[in-house]
Amino acid sequence: MASTTLLLLILLSSSVHAISDPLSSFQNYIVHVRHPYNLLNPNYTSPQNYHLSFFPTTTTTTSSSPRLLYSYSEAITGFSAQLTAEQVTAMSTKPGFLGAYPTPNYKLMTTQTPTFLKLHSNSGLWNQSNQGEGIIIGTIDTGVASGHPSFSDAGMPSAPPRWKSQCQLPLTAPCNKKLIGARTFVGNNASDLQGHGSHTTSTAGGNFVDNANVLSQANGTASGIAPRAHVAVYKVCDLEGCRGEDVTAGLDFAIQDGVDVVSLSLGAGTTSFAMDPIAIAGFRSFPKGIPFVCAAGNDGPYLSSLSNEAPWLLTVGASTMNRILKSVVRLGDGQEFAGEALFQPKNFSSQQKFPLVAPQSCDKFSPKTVKGKIVLCDLVADVDAIKAAGGSAVILKNNKIEGATIVLNLQPLPSSLVTFTDGAKITSYAATEVNPTAAIEFYGTVIGSPPSAPKVAFFSSRGPSISSAGILKPDIIAPGVNVLAAWHEPITNDTNYNGNRRHFNIISGTSMATPHITGVVALLKKAHPNWSPAAIKSAIMTTADVADDSGNPIMDEKLKPADHFALGAGHVNPAKAGDPGLVYDISGDDYLRYICGVGYSDSDVTIIAGRNVSCSEVGKIAEAELNYPSILVFLNLTKVRVKRTVTNVGEAESTYRVKVQSPKGVRVKVKPLVLGFSEVGEKKSFYVTFEKVFGAMYLGNSTHGSLSWVSAKRVVRSPIVVMM
Ligand SMILES: *[C@@H]1O[C@H](CO)[C@@H](O)[C@H](O)[C@H]1NC(C)=O
Ligand SMILES: *[C@@H]1O[C@H](CO)[C@@H](O)[C@H](O)[C@H]1NC(C)=O
Ligand SMILES: *[C@@H]1O[C@H](CO)[C@@H](O)[C@H](O)[C@H]1NC(C)=O
Ligand SMILES: *[C@@H]1O[C@H](CO)[C@@H](O)[C@H](O)[C@H]1NC(C)=O
Ligand SMILES: *[C@@H]1O[C@H](CO)[C@@H](O)[C@H](O)[C@H]1NC(C)=O
Ligand SMILES: *[C@@H]1O[C@H](CO)[C@@H](O)[C@H](O)[C@H]1NC(C)=O
Ligand SMILES: *[C@@H]1O[C@H](CO)[C@@H](O)[C@H](O)[C@H]1NC(C)=O
Ligand SMILES: *[C@@H]1O[C@H](CO)[C@@H](O)[C@H](O)[C@H]1NC(C)=O
Repeated sequence: MASTTLLLLILLSSSVHAISDPLSSFQNYIVHVRHPYNLLNPNYTSPQNYHLSFFPTTTTTTSSSPRLLYSYSEAITGFSAQLTAEQVTAMSTKPGFLGAYPTPNYKLMTTQTPTFLKLHSNSGLWNQSNQGEGIIIGTIDTGVASGHPSFSDAGMPSAPPRWKSQCQLPLTAPCNKKLIGARTFVGNNASDLQGHGSHTTSTAGGNFVDNANVLSQANGTASGIAPRAHVAVYKVCDLEGCRGEDVTAGLDFAIQDGVDVVSLSLGAGTTSFAMDPIAIAGFRSFPKGIPFVCAAGNDGPYLSSLSNEAPWLLTVGASTMNRILKSVVRLGDGQEFAGEALFQPKNFSSQQKFPLVAPQSCDKFSPKTVKGKIVLCDLVADVDAIKAAGGSAVILKNNKIEGATIVLNLQPLPSSLVTFTDGAKITSYAATEVNPTAAIEFYGTVIGSPPSAPKVAFFSSRGPSISSAGILKPDIIAPGVNVLAAWHEPITNDTNYNGNRRHFNIISGTSMATPHITGVVALLKKAHPNWSPAAIKSAIMTTADVADDSGNPIMDEKLKPADHFALGAGHVNPAKAGDPGLVYDISGDDYLRYICGVGYSDSDVTIIAGRNVSCSEVGKIAEAELNYPSILVFLNLTKVRVKRTVTNVGEAESTYRVKVQSPKGVRVKVKPLVLGFSEVGEKKSFYVTFEKVFGAMYLGNSTHGSLSWVSAKRVVRSPIVVMM
């Protein structure tokens, strides 16, 4: 039972999807080809025919035939097919072929949140955006539990006339004005059998549902971040995982159908942009104004553990909220520790002291050691076995790596999940006391008391980025720990808690953080229809919070101030994101010059861009020169200078003064020090020079600071990271 958490965090990690054939070894490949218009191919009649022209000419209809899986037109230029390595080699000699690789396997990365994010119905961004009305959110995920009240269309307007999509759902729970489209690429309908897609989709754009709770906990009104947005789901994952050909097909249709923002709570680790259909589709969608919001990954707290690193993607890390499901451990000597538990049965006596036992091994339990006792184990303990052996309750302690991040999961016994430091103290008490005892007392759902929030979750993937070393990633953090949202089935058969079709679950992951940002993007698209995806990202990043709710720097799971490789720009602040004052905008051509600057070949850039590109013609820029809302520089030389350009999206007449928090060991100079604007849309450039402080102690390989443009009303903050 305890392994549920880990499963959710590793989230349905997919197996390699190779089709085994006794005669030849087929694999599914993504094949990139030149756009047919670039080849002036006289035989071109349809994408399928063009793609089939790359296949071996002598195809027989035996089981060893190559097979076209999908022809793509929007996400990438090319197709996916079941092929042998020899057939790929043969294809590579044909004119128009650009590249092929086995399809990547993506893995899924897993409420009170609107209030925690300070979204209120009659003020701020919810007011400015009318709660995202008319915007269409597309989620590429495990499908949807249609019929769930989070997807009710009460109070919703009709889908925009431009919208065209199919609805591949059972007739018993079809599409409606909230859930306006549902396509599947696995199985025959888009019903969610895993919960993940229902959870993410309802977090981004779910309707209001009163009395939403899990086992009576976290009770309240659940809603998506953009409750009046429409949602469309693209089911690309099944119980075996998310195959790259299906993910690409989902993206292809989402773009054709006309979604306004794409939400991807899945990833494949660090990859070349030219071998990652998500990065490529995101690049192609940029000129169409469709932001891609993607999970940063659950491979933290290790450095350089990111997925979805391309600078045109919005890469989202995960943090905690100010809501805990409090379960206090009280030891015989009076020490108390505030842990958490999802299952807090009313019939468990909080007064009762039980003998406390800390078994040597937490795999097997005999009634002799655990019956009638509270059992102290680490997180991976088999709690079902403790229950079977007659244990009364469990205390599950985090390992060092999980630190202070408590990830709730359903335990079959009364329990308390405690932090690493609390676990160490309880362990020491159990080891030194002759007759150790403990009681567990449930306090239910507690909001806004210590511990302070947000904190970066241990599992949230960290920078620096590998595939985009000169860009700071992740971009932003958002709530991703113990998030309540829609679920496809009851999480328990206990009739005390279950008896209606309104199923919710509390789960964790950067998968859960991602749709929070997707929802904010939907609100911003409604409030500012003309902003580019880069401007929207800039607004979200430069207004992010770097202090927690007690006014201290946001901490990580070790309770140390989190650096920008954990935080990105900081924790999303939607109210401020609606009114950022200045934005750092980027054009599609800038991204092209950036990719050329990273060193991709003309052929790879052509794969990404979908048209013939020669880097010598479009030019190159250094990574640090991309007009990104954060700044990362390599200070190998003694001095580095970067340029940035801001666009005024606040009042016409406004003046901003620079305020720099220099990274330790680095001197930062900005020119000019003041930016004055007299028009909306006006652009102003400035230069930032970084210089090593002479004689400064060597402070490690990265040092962090910030640059802010400050007006009477606003602070436009960019994180700075200097690699030395
Ligand atoms: C694109 O590049 C290919 C390969 O170099 C060439 O055959 C083709 O004519 C080019 N197309 C255009 C429109 O430039
Ligand atoms: C937004 O705020 C304005 C002014 O406070 C108010 O008149 C209007 O009703 C609000 N709109 C919504 C949708 O809450
Ligand atoms: C919908 O798809 C699921 C999974 O593929 C399947 O189990 C179920 O029977 C399907 N429902 C209908 C009505 O076809
Ligand atoms: C949830 O809250 C509502 C409104 O406050 C209340 O009526 C309902 O009984 C609560 N449900 C649970 C399970 O606590
Ligand atoms: C307490 O209630 C739960 C169901 O909520 C039940 O499974 C359990 O057996 C009960 N325990 C006791 C001691 O009555
Ligand atoms: C509920 O009961 C059904 C039927 O016995 C079983 O298949 C399912 O796994 C149970 N669900 C839970 C959450 O225990
Ligand atoms: C600076 O150092 C980094 C890491 O040590 C290296 O990757 C990069 O190529 C260097 N850049 C220059 C301009 O020397
Ligand atoms: C800093 O250097 C150490 C030792 O060389 C290395 O283990 C660590 O990953 C580096 N950190 C960063 C942020 O590059």
